[in-house]
Amino acid sequence: MNYNLAVIPGDGIGPEVVEQTLRVLDKIGEKYGHSFTYTKVLAGGCAIDATGGCLPQETIDICKKSDAVLLGAVGGWKWDTLPGNERPEMALLGLRKELGLFANLRPALLFEELAEACPLKAEIVEGGLDIVVVRELTGGIYFGEKGFKETDLGPAAYDVEQYAEEEVRRIAKVAFDMAMKRDKKVTSVDKANVLESSRLWRRVVAEVGKDYPEVELNNLYIDNAAMQMVRNPKQFDVIVTSNIFGDILSDEASMITGSIGMLPSASLATGNFGMYEPVHGSAPDIAGKDMANPMATILSAAMMLRYTFGLGQEADDIEAAVKKVLAEGYRTPDIAKPDETAIGTAKTGDLIVAAI
Ligand code: IPM
Ligand code: MN
Repeated sequence: MNYNLAVIPGDGIGPEVVEQTLRVLDKIGEKYGHSFTYTKVLAGGCAIDATGGCLPQETIDICKKSDAVLLGAVGGWKWDTLPGNERPEMALLGLRKELGLFANLRPALLFEELAEACPLKAEIVEGGLDIVVVRELTGGIYFGEKGFKETDLGPAAYDVEQYAEEEVRRIAKVAFDMAMKRDKKVTSVDKANVLESSRLWRRVVAEVGKDYPEVELNNLYIDNAAMQMVRNPKQFDVIVTSNIFGDILSDEASMITGSIGMLPSASLATGNFGMYEPVHGSAPDIAGKDMANPMATILSAAMMLRYTFGLGQEADDIEAAVKKVLAEGYRTPDIAKPDETAIGTAKTGDLIVAAI
């Protein structure tokens, strides 16, 4: 079977980590008799330089016509002085909205081999950590009405947090379905003691939960959830939350695994379409130096195989190859200990390809 991918290498280390990921996909194709066709498109800072805008219409059109999208990273110092709405990061918001990517899955997995990198005490994470943050991605305060107005205190700016019941329902279903395949536990995170939109959120999540009697549903306020994440993260299985709370909690969850450079993500639309990207950013300080860790992007490609193409065995193969390379002691600089010799981006790719 042939799969058509739109590929957005982007900025900074994006192109390097994407290059290794395409090699890994080609190896999977060779092993299992699939072929992957890549159409590279521009988004982010490189698109600003080439076209004047961070998300050209051509990019949107090609992404829409493809079976899935693979993205490296966008942004960098060069564009840091642009006004907020012209920055490279706006390409991400545009892609999410245009492609209908309402469900963002951000697994936070503690790799046994890297357990020492976890900043929490060993007894707190003993036995490992395996959390998935299911973040609503196309609604809430990111996309609500925004603007400026005069107030008693002078000029003010505002952004509206708003959720339609249907937006909550569809993300809740994703979370409960996910929980059914895991430990059957959903924690819904909101601020229902203060926000009207959170009270609606909590009510709708509970309604959806009735269709999943086997899944245990808990509700936490965001402040408490942020605290519980470092106090006792093992209590979490699937966390479902709004766009802004999910942005914050997923960074916290990834940090406690100690290896943000290792974590993949998936952003899914209705049906099987999705965009896959590493959780980390464009790291302009190490771009072009063959120092970046390509594992997060490679693991994102594994999520693509699993969620968009239904190729579970192939995805398992990639994950096993990454684990093998770690178990053999190979580390890029971001995860190497001071006494370890680090390997580069390309060598990491070589080893993973060989392990497949
Ligand atoms: C993320 C990022 C983005 C977000 C920014 C870059 C717009 O922080 O993907 O988590 O806030 O969603
Ligand atoms: Mn973020």
